[in-house]
Amino acid sequence: MGYSSVFRYIFLCSSLLFHLHIYKADGFDQLDPHGMIEIKWDILTWEDDTYNAQISILNKQAFRHIEKPGWRLGWTWQNDEVIWHIVGAEATEQGDCRRIPGKPPHTCEKQPEIIDLLPGVPYNMQTSNCCKGGVLTTEIQDPSKHGAFFQMSVGKALFMEIVNGTAKPSVNQTAPAAPPPADDGDKDQQPPSKDKHDTGKGKEKRDQDTWKLTCTYSQMQASQTPTCCVSMSSFYNDTIVQCPTCSCACRRDPTKQCIDPTKDLQPLIELPHSEDEVVPPKVRCTEHMCPIRIHWHVKTSYKDYWRVQVTVHNFNFVKNYSDWSLVVQHPNLKSLVQVFSFNYKPLLVFPTNDTGMFWGIPFYNNMLMQSSVDAGNVQTEILLKKDPGFTFGGGFAFPVKISFNGDLCVMPPPDQYPRLPNSSFSLSSNSRPILFSMFLLLLSLYIVY
Ligand SMILES: *[C@@H]1O[C@H](CO)[C@@H](O)[C@H](O)[C@H]1NC(C)=O
Ligand SMILES: *[C@@H]1O[C@H](CO)[C@@H](O)[C@H](O)[C@H]1NC(C)=O
Ligand SMILES: *[C@@H]1O[C@H](CO)[C@@H](O)[C@H](O)[C@H]1NC(C)=O
Ligand SMILES: *[C@@H]1O[C@H](CO)[C@@H](O)[C@H](O)[C@H]1NC(C)=O
Ligand SMILES: *[C@@H]1O[C@H](CO)[C@@H](O)[C@H](O)[C@H]1NC(C)=O
Ligand SMILES: *[C@@H]1O[C@H](CO)[C@@H](O)[C@H](O)[C@H]1NC(C)=O
Repeated sequence: MGYSSVFRYIFLCSSLLFHLHIYKADGFDQLDPHGMIEIKWDILTWEDDTYNAQISILNKQAFRHIEKPGWRLGWTWQNDEVIWHIVGAEATEQGDCRRIPGKPPHTCEKQPEIIDLLPGVPYNMQTSNCCKGGVLTTEIQDPSKHGAFFQMSVGKALFMEIVNGTAKPSVNQTAPAAPPPADDGDKDQQPPSKDKHDTGKGKEKRDQDTWKLTCTYSQMQASQTPTCCVSMSSFYNDTIVQCPTCSCACRRDPTKQCIDPTKDLQPLIELPHSEDEVVPPKVRCTEHMCPIRIHWHVKTSYKDYWRVQVTVHNFNFVKNYSDWSLVVQHPNLKSLVQVFSFNYKPLLVFPTNDTGMFWGIPFYNNMLMQSSVDAGNVQTEILLKKDPGFTFGGGFAFPVKISFNGDLCVMPPPDQYPRLPNSSFSLSSNSRPILFSMFLLLLSLYIVY
């Protein structure tokens, strides 16, 4: 196995009967305490023993998006339901439909697993706002692409029993049961009955026919290895503080493969065969062995402002990171003045407002290209106003935390941060009095001579 296996995480949903599978790296939640994925099941119409349902999946996580190969939604039918027809998504398996006479349903699986369609499928297979290959952005990044919608008709299969060579309907033909009830226990757990729908009156009917459940990240992946690290430099010190050695893996670990771009190791690079395939990361050989490195460079100090350059380097040869996001925690971010080349939104993290999210500009740098001879990279510069008491000392100019795609990055230990030189030239924000006294000095020299 390569450097790292493919992780498959299951979201924990409030109804155990549902399971949502999403391929995604580990995340941390403290900056997104309300992050969740919401699944809604609306029954639109009933007709005899069949109902039409619309299912929506909304990504309500601040900075975790769902990337390729996309979401999968599964559940277990309580009875012998089948999905006759579906638009905007499809089941992965049809299952055994031999026992059902006539035109076979879309799927007869007791535990169907539904996946998204790719963009550009024929119009009659689409619903509005569907078909994004399972990809869901965050609401912040693109509100038009953070949800998935599909519709399906669900019916109770009319099973036939073969009795002495003659097909006869089997007993117990009843209306299909509704999907599993939602999380809050005080909801009526009876499946909606057919009568109610024939005479149903507006609101009550709608309430009865909507099931909502939420899924949050499962915490069980706490032990997963990191996937990014942070390096630092500054204008006031020549030292470049590298990512900690073995941040993500150790180069000398014989079980870890890496790629030395100075050698011809192209055969090692196994590119995905299709858009849906997830291949393990193939990283460039570095001491940190992370697929992603964030470099934080304190670039300039002005009288009232300071400027930082942030660069995201992709060391993974087999992955383009689409719709990437970067979350930064720094006490001065609440005084951020300008961001170049990236989008930015502060995350209102109680109580300090010291956290913000950066992401790429569509068609410009929202895709972080795979590593080639040079690491793919995207870069921004940010301009911050110096808060009262601002200092470059004590490592203050460096971030507290950084995460990439919701994945916390490994930081160098604080005692290694680039330090101010001892005979400190003025970096403080009150440089005006010093300039002023120098001016007075020049003036007095001038007068003397
Ligand atoms: C099936 O057919 C056999 C003889 O052909 C007969 O003895 C048997 O009773 C039949 N069974 C049913 C359930 O009709
Ligand atoms: C039909 O329903 C009855 C009562 O609900 C149950 O006892 C019986 O097992 C069912 N038969 C089949 C074939 O599902
Ligand atoms: C990344 O994008 C480039 C340019 O579009 C493409 O040539 C390359 O195959 C992509 N890599 C992967 C791993 O999809
Ligand atoms: C954080 O931001 C909110 C909304 O802009 C504001 O109401 C609040 O006072 C801020 N808190 C701090 C500590 O700056
Ligand atoms: C630069 O920072 C490093 C790391 O903290 C420190 O060891 C070094 O002494 C600093 N250089 C100067 C000139 O202060
Ligand atoms: C900086 O000053 C500290 C004490 O103030 C001293 O221990 C250290 O050696 C000095 N470092 C340099 C590079 O001059």
